[in-house]
Amino acid sequence: MTGVESVLVVGAGAMGSQIALVAALAGCDVALHDVDVDVLARAERQLRDRMAQQIVKGRRTPEEVGQAFARLRFAAELDPVTDVDLVIEAVVEKVDVKRQLFADLDRRCPERTVLASNSSSFVPSAMASATMRPDRFCNLHFFNPALVMRCVEVVRGPATSEATMAAAVGFVERIGKQPVVLDREIPGFVANRILNAVRDEAIRLLEGGYATVEAIDTACRTALGYPMGPFELMDLTGIDIGYLTKQARYDETGDPADAPSATVRMLVAAGHLGRKTGRGFYTYENDEQGDD
Ligand SMILES: NC(=O)c1ccc[n+]([C@@H]2O[C@H](COP(=O)([O-])OP(=O)(O)OC[C@H]3O[C@@H](n4cnc5c(N)ncnc54)[C@H](O)[C@@H]3O)[C@@H](O)[C@H]2O)c1
Repeated sequence: MTGVESVLVVGAGAMGSQIALVAALAGCDVALHDVDVDVLARAERQLRDRMAQQIVKGRRTPEEVGQAFARLRFAAELDPVTDVDLVIEAVVEKVDVKRQLFADLDRRCPERTVLASNSSSFVPSAMASATMRPDRFCNLHFFNPALVMRCVEVVRGPATSEATMAAAVGFVERIGKQPVVLDREIPGFVANRILNAVRDEAIRLLEGGYATVEAIDTACRTALGYPMGPFELMDLTGIDIGYLTKQARYDETGDPADAPSATVRMLVAAGHLGRKTGRGFYTYENDEQGDD
């Protein structure tokens, strides 16, 4: 496969919706699919609102936004969208769900199609083995919010071919992002492993009663130059996502240090998942998911 022109994004949640728009803004033909039609409708509404704000701020022209939406299809069914160069999976962080989806996509997609996962933690081989094309499989790990964050980790599995890596890197560059190529699998990859170490320490300080949520976030912003503190970021990315990521790591290693903290468990049990539910470590007045 040469250049990526047509993209299917599966999962229209926080990540998939913005990844789809990023690709459409860069000139790709994009279909965005979700099993939940309400999620699809919400994704379209949020993306249109976001772009309207960008036009008002003078950051994008009405023409480029109009052209991007003309190239972006919100697809309730998978069937009509199988003729694609690249599939980016952005569904729930459960490896069994992803494996089942990839096995299905493998059957539906043409031979040339590269399958990629946006998983935050699962390595390519954990999913590629559910398909007959592990050579045409890699991870494309975007960061939240995908419209804004430049880094995309391009992760090679043991069977990923050079051609697949070249196509994946070419796609990331085409959409104006910065590829970070990882040639060896490691769960969580690079940026999140470093982030998690910071997050774990922040929660240890909170649970130990050494500092408040606000104090820790303020210290990280004003002493370390972070654009937002670890608790603000957990609220932005979704506390359930962090929980599932840690739980998956714990299931894999059995190391108690990898288990989700008591605080995170309690927030998830209470349904306080961060900005998307209006409450997490902080409380919010609307469903805003981050500024760009
Ligand atoms: N949230 C983040 O900050 C972040 C950052 C980087 C990567 N990721 C990864 O991206 C993926 C998605 O995360 P998210 O935050 O967008 O989740 P989300 O819960 O916001 O969205 C997931 C969507 O997938 C849909 N879905 C579930 N199963 C499906 C299926 N079989 N077919 C089609 N759609 C299906 C759900 O209806 C839901 O709308 C996860 O693997 C996560 O680890 C998340």
